[in-house]
Amino acid sequence: MKSTNCIYFSPTKTTEAVVTKLAEQLSSNKLNNINITKSDFAFDPSDFNAESISVIGMPVYAGRLPLDAVVRFLNIDGKGSKVVVVVVYGNREFDDALLELTELAQKANFEVIAAAAFIGEHSYSTTGKPGAANRPDAEDLHKVDELANAIRTKIESSSADCLINIEHIPGNRPFVDRKQRPAIAPETDHSNCALCGVCVESCPTDAILIETKVLTDPEKCIWCCACVKQCPEQTRTFDHEIIQCIRERLYNNCSQRKEPQFFL
Ligand SMILES: Cc1cc2nc3c(=O)[nH]c(=O)nc-3n(C[C@H](O)[C@H](O)[C@H](O)COP(=O)(O)O)c2cc1C
Ligand code: SF4
Ligand code: SF4
Repeated sequence: MKSTNCIYFSPTKTTEAVVTKLAEQLSSNKLNNINITKSDFAFDPSDFNAESISVIGMPVYAGRLPLDAVVRFLNIDGKGSKVVVVVVYGNREFDDALLELTELAQKANFEVIAAAAFIGEHSYSTTGKPGAANRPDAEDLHKVDELANAIRTKIESSSADCLINIEHIPGNRPFVDRKQRPAIAPETDHSNCALCGVCVESCPTDAILIETKVLTDPEKCIWCCACVKQCPEQTRTFDHEIIQCIRERLYNNCSQRKEPQFFL
């Protein structure tokens, strides 16, 4: 393969960690990083060709893919090139998201040769109520190596195409509904805010502004927690009662470790 494209939407960087490692393992030549977490991403359309392989990663949001990630990804035309699709979820379930990503990649003219679901620290995980804390961990990253080896073997040993059988990917059609989220957002403890702008940069939907203080538009917030996890002063928190309730439910019901799954 002449070039490898690594495409991802990853507000809290767990998806980024998984797909970057996978793309590095698969890459023998040029590696293109296409981070679609912010809307101003750029890519070279000529990097998608018969000689390229791509890795696409997105997190699972309420059993589906984040809508902003879907819309941004559809700017890319795979032109019949090979792709590996990866979803990363917070140790609850990935529901219909991997099937959705497989179909989305096909719609964007990619040929899907492998699919995988990995586990990442839950966006709502806190020290007091952890959810898949510190994942992907060393064991997960070892599984990324195993997946890369399996993909390489598949490509080298297949005389024709090496498409996956979509029937093997879990998920149910029609996909679970994307529910409208209430207009809530993380809060800032202004007394400890350094006005550094890291939260503004981290936000995938441009929901945060700094005037004389940090202002957040809850209508634009997708609840991703990038601003919470990246604030260097730990002054952003998301403790609305709705989030506390989700956090509590995850802690009580989803603490048993799940393992990555591959479909080749
Ligand atoms: C709005 C929202 C919904 C989520 N829904 C799910 C879910 O349905 N199942 C699950 O296991 N994790 C869910 N998560 C957790 C994320 O999938 C998980 O933390 C993932 O690692 C985040 O990826 P990122 O670090 O690339 O942003 C959700 C997170 C958010 C922000
Ligand atoms: S990242 Fe934190 S400290 Fe920096 S401006 Fe945002 S809230 Fe303030
Ligand atoms: S304001 Fe909302 S959308 Fe923006 S980074 Fe924070 S949680 Fe994510």
